Amino acid sequence: MTPRPRKLKVAVLFGGRSVEHDVSVVSAQGVMGALDEARFKAVPIGVTRQGTWLTPAQTEQALARIRQERLRSLDEPLGEGLLYRTAALAALRRVDIVFPLIHGTNGEDGTLQGLLEMAGMPYVGAGVAASALGMDKALQKTFFRHHDFPVVNDIEIKASDWARDRENVLRAAEATIGYPAFVKPANGGSSVGTSKARSREDLDVAIAEAFRYDRKVLVEEAIDAREVEIAILGNDEPEASPIGEITYEAEFYDYHAKYDDPATGLHIPADIPDDVATRITETALAAYKSIDCAGLARVDFFLLPDGHFFLNEVNTIPGFTPMSMYPKLWEYAGLPYRDLITRLIELGLERYQEKPRG
Ligand SMILES: Nc1ncnc2c1ncn2[C@@H]1O[C@H](COP(=O)(O)OP(=O)(O)O)[C@@H](O)[C@H]1O
Ligand SMILES: [Mg+2]
Repeated sequence: MTPRPRKLKVAVLFGGRSVEHDVSVVSAQGVMGALDEARFKAVPIGVTRQGTWLTPAQTEQALARIRQERLRSLDEPLGEGLLYRTAALAALRRVDIVFPLIHGTNGEDGTLQGLLEMAGMPYVGAGVAASALGMDKALQKTFFRHHDFPVVNDIEIKASDWARDRENVLRAAEATIGYPAFVKPANGGSSVGTSKARSREDLDVAIAEAFRYDRKVLVEEAIDAREVEIAILGNDEPEASPIGEITYEAEFYDYHAKYDDPATGLHIPADIPDDVATRITETALAAYKSIDCAGLARVDFFLLPDGHFFLNEVNTIPGFTPMSMYPKLWEYAGLPYRDLITRLIELGLERYQEKPRG
């Protein structure tokens, strides 16, 4: 009898300090539930809202409570920093690859990827630089603009400018962007801290609100457009899914529309003329490659009625529940959730093997 090959241990890292903690918990449960058990074994590592890493055993207990009590998050009010939880970090010694499913801060922004690079661990998804560019909308837009990608006009405001001279900032935003304007934290997600401003009063409130989440804020021209998204999968030779469209009843795709509103719809494939779809697909692939992305990303666009479009953002850890746009797009393309997860793990291992180690 041939011995059965050893199952690869996959650490599923989820939760975290960002506003997208709850979504991450759902994504992680989806991935762990769908992991191909013949090849992989999931090792869950939860990070609490306070930033504390739990050991796999503690995470199992926390997940059982989440299921029993219908909780949505991991909480430990007396959380300590990462360096005090060496047991949780040491759990990584016994796994073969890490699947980061933490959105936003310390998960999607390159910091976690840096830790994993230093630890010499293979992981799923984008590396340090692509993650950092994917997270920071200000840096990302500057980069894309320099590479001639179509991006919406904006100005960037630093907290120090705002503190020094609010009037001046408001005047500059009005002169360059005008109304209506979208105001958002540079490092954010799930539309938290994002609002539409139609007047100076709105703008003042919107900027102050966005600064609750970041020290950099963008004021953008508001675009009246359809919102379409495409899933990219691969390392140096990535592939694109068909295009999907989001529709919602809210004024924009805000937090409620994203997670709680049954009126929100995902339409796959989006009803778009072929030539426009081709250009969006090419732009998404080029954007992915330009930031040296790996594994996966969802690339989001604003599409105007005349076929022109703007590249809105690249998400390196997109929502990954079985119902989320990224997996749904691949499912439509013929790659079911389970096989998508397997492919992402393989891509993470391939990328790790490619790196010279001297
Ligand atoms: N310039 C804009 N014009 C029109 N709508 C916008 C603009 N910027 C953001 N929005 C709306 O806000 C949502 C969230 O903004 P986005 O930049 O995608 O940040 P997040 O990372 O939170 O998804 C978008 O999906 C869209 O509905
Ligand atoms: Mg978005």
